[in-house]
Amino acid sequence: MTRTSSIDTACVHAGEQHGDSRFGLNTPIVTSTAFDYRQEGVRYPRYVNALNHEVAAGKIAALEGAEAARVTASGMGAISAVFLSLIQPGDHAVILDGLYGGTTDLIEGLLEPMGMRFTTWNGEPDALAGLFEEHTRLLMVESPTNPLLSIVDLAWTASIARERGVVSFIDNTFATPILQRPIEHGFDLVMHSATKYLGGHSDLLCGALAGSCELIDRIHPNIVRLGATLNGQDLAVLERSIKTLAVRVERASENAAELAGRLDRDSRIKEVRYPGLAGHPGHEVAARQMSRFGGMLSFSLDDSIDPDGFLDRLELIRPAVSLGGVESTVSQPSKTSHAKLTAEKREALGIDDRLMRLSVGIEGVDDLWADLDRALRH
Ligand SMILES: Cc1ncc(COP(=O)(O)O)c(C=O)c1O
Repeated sequence: MTRTSSIDTACVHAGEQHGDSRFGLNTPIVTSTAFDYRQEGVRYPRYVNALNHEVAAGKIAALEGAEAARVTASGMGAISAVFLSLIQPGDHAVILDGLYGGTTDLIEGLLEPMGMRFTTWNGEPDALAGLFEEHTRLLMVESPTNPLLSIVDLAWTASIARERGVVSFIDNTFATPILQRPIEHGFDLVMHSATKYLGGHSDLLCGALAGSCELIDRIHPNIVRLGATLNGQDLAVLERSIKTLAVRVERASENAAELAGRLDRDSRIKEVRYPGLAGHPGHEVAARQMSRFGGMLSFSLDDSIDPDGFLDRLELIRPAVSLGGVESTVSQPSKTSHAKLTAEKREALGIDDRLMRLSVGIEGVDDLWADLDRALRH
């Protein structure tokens, strides 16, 4: 893609390879797991499925404005490969408090027992610089965070890491490159649970990494060693899905902004967390670094509403783990993404059973509101 191409055009066309007219406009799907070892190129698809990977990864690199990208078999495959490639036992990393529960579980269940050391940053700008040590190698954040939608100032955070020679790494799952391109703000490395918006139809498990050629080349051998490579069929589904990413994300963001406003004015709701609301503590920073505020929001039910009854009364919006699909879903982070945290840790983060995380889809917004309104009546 040329530098002047719009992000909408990049979704549809970036990465595509045209050659043999017998295959038409779409990328043929390479399913072989056995290759002639005497030829140059692909030896075995766990190293890389050359054609479908090149196209999907090329699209993601173009969207993130990165030199290179890799697609992985899951978001956790990407995060695991990053940590295992960039920090060694004895090394130190700084992580934002309240990262996705699976990331915290990886750190506590595998990386800390291996001897890697982590310090949690509470998100307060003044507190960050003091957390770096001599052996700090990595800083990992999310923005907006899951499920509380907190916002990190990306340009400022990346500059603090860069001054200290620390790699800055962001989970950009909630925003997607349509709304936020962290590399443009100075971040070194971006990951996605592509299971969410990039896949977008709740039928694909995969992850993605984007960054400099140097960093991606350091991480790729560990993607291969961990077996976190994605197969050809799923790569082709990912390529097809990303073609509609911009229209899906924009529609979901419009719907979410409308619902956030209506919920915020509703007395049956205690608190709404959505960076597009003027009262959100990260609103101004989000407005600077995101083109819209995204399709995710969370809200706390008033004490008079039983959370289980609310979920039972919903008809259109389905209770479900995961997010970022074309259909709207709701979940209780205390019982899903953050279930593995201790009760004390959940309480400290403000995640209780009354907190609902809404992944707003692309349905008609009045239908979504009618469903929420009915479920809130009791
Ligand atoms: C913000 C975020 N990051 C990472 C992950 C992990 O991705 P995956 O489930 O594709 O391994 C998830 C999954 O829910 C997520 O929500």
